[in-house]
Amino acid sequence: MKINAYRYLKYYKKEMILGPAFKILEVIFELITPFLMAYIIDTGINRATEFNDYSAIYIPGIIILALSVLGLSSTLVCQYFASIASQGYGTKLRNALYEKIMGLSLREIELVGKGNLVTLITNDVNRVQLSVAMMVRLVLRAPALIIGSLICAFIIDYKFAFIFLGVVIIISLILFFVIKYSSKRVLTTQKAVDELVTISNDSLSGIRVVKAFNNEEYEINKFKDKTSAYYKEMKKVNLLNAITNPVTFLIINIAIVLIVYFSGVSAINGTDLSSGNLTSLISYLNQILLALIVVSNLVVIFTKAFASKKRIENILSMEPSIKNNPKYKDLKIKNREPIFVFKNASFKYETGDNLVVSNLNFEILKGETVGIIGGTGSGKTTIIKLLERFFDVTSGHILYKGVDIKDYDLTSLHDEISLVNQRAVLFKGTIKSNLMMANKNATNEDINNALKDACAFEFVSNYKDGIDHEVEEGGKNFSGGQRQRLSIARSILKNSEVLILDDSTSALDYLTEKTLRNNLKSKENLTKIIIAQRISSLQNADKIIVMYHGNIEAIGRHDELLKTSKVYKEIYESQEVK
Ligand SMILES: Nc1ncnc2c1ncn2[C@@H]1O[C@H](COP(=O)(O)OP(=O)(O)OP(=O)(O)O)[C@@H](O)[C@H]1O
Ligand SMILES: [Mg+2]
Repeated sequence: MKINAYRYLKYYKKEMILGPAFKILEVIFELITPFLMAYIIDTGINRATEFNDYSAIYIPGIIILALSVLGLSSTLVCQYFASIASQGYGTKLRNALYEKIMGLSLREIELVGKGNLVTLITNDVNRVQLSVAMMVRLVLRAPALIIGSLICAFIIDYKFAFIFLGVVIIISLILFFVIKYSSKRVLTTQKAVDELVTISNDSLSGIRVVKAFNNEEYEINKFKDKTSAYYKEMKKVNLLNAITNPVTFLIINIAIVLIVYFSGVSAINGTDLSSGNLTSLISYLNQILLALIVVSNLVVIFTKAFASKKRIENILSMEPSIKNNPKYKDLKIKNREPIFVFKNASFKYETGDNLVVSNLNFEILKGETVGIIGGTGSGKTTIIKLLERFFDVTSGHILYKGVDIKDYDLTSLHDEISLVNQRAVLFKGTIKSNLMMANKNATNEDINNALKDACAFEFVSNYKDGIDHEVEEGGKNFSGGQRQRLSIARSILKNSEVLILDDSTSALDYLTEKTLRNNLKSKENLTKIIIAQRISSLQNADKIIVMYHGNIEAIGRHDELLKTSKVYKEIYESQEVK
């Protein structure tokens, strides 16, 4: 379903109507003023000099003053409505977008790219938000001023008004071509900015690697290449704008000269254009000029906003590829009954050409400890992504608790499985807030027990503030092994039926890992799936799955595999202390 990003304006109908209405009031006041000025010049000054009667000067003078105060107040009111509407709209749109992104499946998030998503909720939303402010403040004002000034000019003197019309047409044509050229450029510069964001995101998040490899210069040059592409594009746009403004002023000034000239000629011919009317014609011309310049700026703002709007709408209209079909939930099974069954399951990533795992056939029983081992890239993490239903199998089936995993309620599924990722992920907050993500009702005692099970209790209690110790962005104030233990503690706290450790003990020393293994062993109802590179991490498992290039090479217990699996034996021998 196509979603219009402007739909969130519906919450600000009042502001969207009242704002422009006040702006139109201001335009009317602005258009009346030159008439009054003309009256002062033509009638007021005459009366003052001939009859010493100043009323025709100060009465219109006071009215002009009152009109400008009213005009200013209308502008302020309009500005107020504009900021309520645009800020409120921006907030609503940003929240909706974020909610949408959170609901998408990994497939879509990987396709769009995380960097792009960040640009979308910041830059792109800002641009659309600005367009809303402009809609309230200027979109009606500029044409109203142009048309109003033209009408006033026709009222004053239709012959001179044709000069106005000519000027408006010529300048509009020039602006049209400038805008047509620059909007294309604006879109290319936008792409250049996006690339800048992506590149800097990538380099900054990998800054340690960049520094370790002394690669700063390479990164700087990569960045410079992109900034210079951006610079070149922007130079062209700005040059054009730089020429456009003086040209517009020149045309207006020529028009003023023409009007003054023709008014002189008509004075000679006896058909007089009064000096008051001449002054007001000139001020109408100036108003047209200013309004036209506003229009050209508006077009640039809207060109950018529409491009951003389209990108936002693409995301808002996306449907998550993983559909929740909650036919089953909270199913209970007995110990040693199959909890996961893979039947000829194969999977291929959207961006890849080949199957990364193929024809997987195996069973995992409730309460079992299952190890998965195999070379890097052999498909271990992919199996986990399928178990969690982050992705659906390309062919074959996965049964969870005896039913097709696609029919199991996704929320229940994720509640029942607890995953520790290959890369320990912590969030800004405290140790406690990080752990409680897994279980909102956990007491301090539960948290401490989980920390004990994960061998993290000791180092956490060394902090003065214990579990309230601060966790910085990405957990960067912890060592790799500490991060791993905290994320294991979080998964244990979740108290789920299945615990998956995806290479999550790689940074732990042998002794700590052994203690952790023993702690987990005592949880008999917990199904444990342990991916590891070290044989010692999983040699006591009930079942070990050996992966080789996306296929299962063998399944069995440690001692069986030493006899039957070539790959397992090789790994074992490579790790033997000689
Ligand atoms: N998001 C992705 N998009 C495209 N291809 C991917 C993606 N993730 C993994 N792959 C590919 O799938 C294959 C299996 O990856 P997987 O992460 O399952 O390996 P692994 O066995 O967990 O390796 P490791 O021990 O290094 O963690 C690899 O060849 C990898 O290139
Ligand atoms: Mg992996």
